[in-house]
Amino acid sequence: MKAKVGMEVSWHLRMLLFISFASSFLNVSYAQTNNDYDTPAAPPPGLSNCNGVFLTYSFTSRDKEYPHIKNATAQAWAFKSSATIVNTGEYEVKAWQMFVGFQHKETLVSATGATIVDSDDFPVDASNGTTFAGGSQADLKTSIETAGDFTQISAQIDITGTQFGVKPPGVPMPSIIKLVNNGYKCPKATMRGSYNY
Ligand SMILES: *[C@@H]1O[C@H](CO)[C@@H](O)[C@H](O)[C@H]1NC(C)=O
Ligand SMILES: *[C@@H]1O[C@H](CO)[C@@H](O)[C@H](O)[C@H]1NC(C)=O
Repeated sequence: MKAKVGMEVSWHLRMLLFISFASSFLNVSYAQTNNDYDTPAAPPPGLSNCNGVFLTYSFTSRDKEYPHIKNATAQAWAFKSSATIVNTGEYEVKAWQMFVGFQHKETLVSATGATIVDSDDFPVDASNGTTFAGGSQADLKTSIETAGDFTQISAQIDITGTQFGVKPPGVPMPSIIKLVNNGYKCPKATMRGSYNY
């Protein structure tokens, strides 16, 4: 029980840190396409700010799957990634839906913390991208109405699946992440240039 509370707190802290990081990152990215982060500790996430709703996608890890083959384009990799959505705006987001534009022949095997729109069963062919929606928590409340309770204004999706053809140090990022809900505009997701595969 204690450990669980600790984990939740650290997740909230990470999100807080992330949001401040995200704001400065957006500024940097929009200000200039070149940058001088030569050896980042981890690839920066793709992120998008849709009218105050922050979306992120982070690649976590991968392992080569069988069969191991010489043709790098056809090699399958088991991967883990996570996506987050945080409502930092002034309006509740009812029935949020987040589109992730997968582009490396992804097959999703699990997505903890969300459901997949238009699909009931795993595995899901996500090669043309796929849309996630909230699981038990379909709406994202505002900070104002929850006194900044992260569990109610945000959601995290932990994804596992298979992708093809992107070996290290390449990072298989989606082409786009966006909030599908009506009335929200999302600029093209920003990423560090060399990670934008
Ligand atoms: C490698 O795999 C890709 C994707 O399956 C295929 O299109 C390509 O022809 C293969 N190349 C060789 C040299 O076999
Ligand atoms: C992906 O898009 C292509 C081209 O529009 C289509 O042929 C294919 O059936 C789609 N695959 C899935 C799983 O929707």
